[in-house]
Amino acid sequence: MMKRKIMTIVLSIILISTFLPKIQVLAADNSLKKVKSKETLVVGTSADFPPYEFHATLDGQDEIVGMDISIAEKIAEDLGVKLEIQDIGFDSLLPALEVGKVDIIISGMSASDERKESVDFSEVYYIGGQNIVVRPSDNEIYTSKDDLYQKKIGVQTGSIQESLAKEQMPDSSILSLSKITDLILALKTNKIEAIIMEKPSAMAYVANDNGLATFDGGFELQEDEQGAAVAVKKGSASLVTAINQSISTIKENNLTEDYLKEAGELLKESQGQDGQEDSKPKTIINYWSYFAKGTGYTILISVLSVFFGSILGVILSLMRLSDRKLIRLPATAYVEFVRGTPMMIQVMFIYFAVGYLINIPALASGIIAVSLNSGAYISEIIRSGLNSVNKGQTEAARSLGMSKKTAMRYIVFPQALKNIWPALGNEFITIIKESSIVSIIGVGDLIFQTKIVTSLSYRGIAPLAVTMVIYFILTFSLTKLLNHYERKMNHDQI
Ligand code: ARG
Repeated sequence: MMKRKIMTIVLSIILISTFLPKIQVLAADNSLKKVKSKETLVVGTSADFPPYEFHATLDGQDEIVGMDISIAEKIAEDLGVKLEIQDIGFDSLLPALEVGKVDIIISGMSASDERKESVDFSEVYYIGGQNIVVRPSDNEIYTSKDDLYQKKIGVQTGSIQESLAKEQMPDSSILSLSKITDLILALKTNKIEAIIMEKPSAMAYVANDNGLATFDGGFELQEDEQGAAVAVKKGSASLVTAINQSISTIKENNLTEDYLKEAGELLKESQGQDGQEDSKPKTIINYWSYFAKGTGYTILISVLSVFFGSILGVILSLMRLSDRKLIRLPATAYVEFVRGTPMMIQVMFIYFAVGYLINIPALASGIIAVSLNSGAYISEIIRSGLNSVNKGQTEAARSLGMSKKTAMRYIVFPQALKNIWPALGNEFITIIKESSIVSIIGVGDLIFQTKIVTSLSYRGIAPLAVTMVIYFILTFSLTKLLNHYERKMNHDQI
């Protein structure tokens, strides 16, 4: 009897998990309705891909611009809704679409057959071509992909260039990074010999940087790998139809040409190369507003996470001190689990997996993930602090007639605090540095801004140096501050 019940349950789970995705697809297509009812079209993109999409400083403001953004604007306009752009790493775009963080992807994304298995595409709006980017000094040596036999080449993670490299250059070794700007840096510092990149983007990088050269890669391309299209969640026929209408107007009026021209000008303008006599080359200081913004976010995330982490830490450590197993066990399990898994996965889990149920914005997801992580470590700090107080102290207090609670509060805890404090300070410092992991889900912290500055300035090392100094100033002032309080605390007790 029991066996049959178990069998039925197992079978239903298998059935449900195989058919649920299909049922979801069959479910009424309300994709267009959904966008219209929230009056906003959320577009995911990876803004490291001029002239398709890139960051530009216009009138001192950071903006994401480019051909794809103009297309997004047109689609939003035709739908009569507002446009919201989310800048996400290229390899996280498809997951973001699947869990509904974004409504569509416009990111120079090729409508490859492989991708068509998990998402749907609009009509192709632009056909690029595949180039190879090298250092100018190598321009004579390498002229096609075959010259790069057994050499190190760079590609963007999750891009069709990555598959092209794997399939058509099997003897070369591949470095795959999630941002093209990082690939450019790797090329310039001789870490790799070449980058495979879409032709328009390769041309844009080369035009803005005389430390780069490019040529046609001579790849054999399948039909489906040629053109860029808009990606939507599977089963969004109504949304695709609407998008295709905008795309056909764009094509009929040759608007992509205009968009590309505009993008080219914006790229130059943002580079300070708009032909004006007085436009001096920009130094890294010109980008201070990005660093300031990033520092603000980093401080905000760290302070809030340590605050919430401390509350959680206190609760967890009290639970772990309990006499009851049922209370102790979950807390121990939590701490062990959090300590045993990488924070990067925790951040992505909160953003993508939990976000599947409730849509938490990136910044909040980041703060929640870092707080949950920090809580586990802080609970350990508090627990070991309390344990470090000699048992005799509690016993003496109890024999004086104090209750367990009073003894803890007035005798044990003040002594424990002396041990907890420095460790807590260390945790704070760790959080300032480690919270940088939230940049992967698009939170604009210091690391995220550094990447933007790298792409805007076409310089790799200077932004890193500035960021390093800022982190050091943050952590060093915190150390000084904590030391001050630590001394005060010791003083008070003498
Ligand atoms: N067309 C290539 C692909 O679909 C590269 C696109 C990269 N886009 C970007 N915004 N970085 O894989």
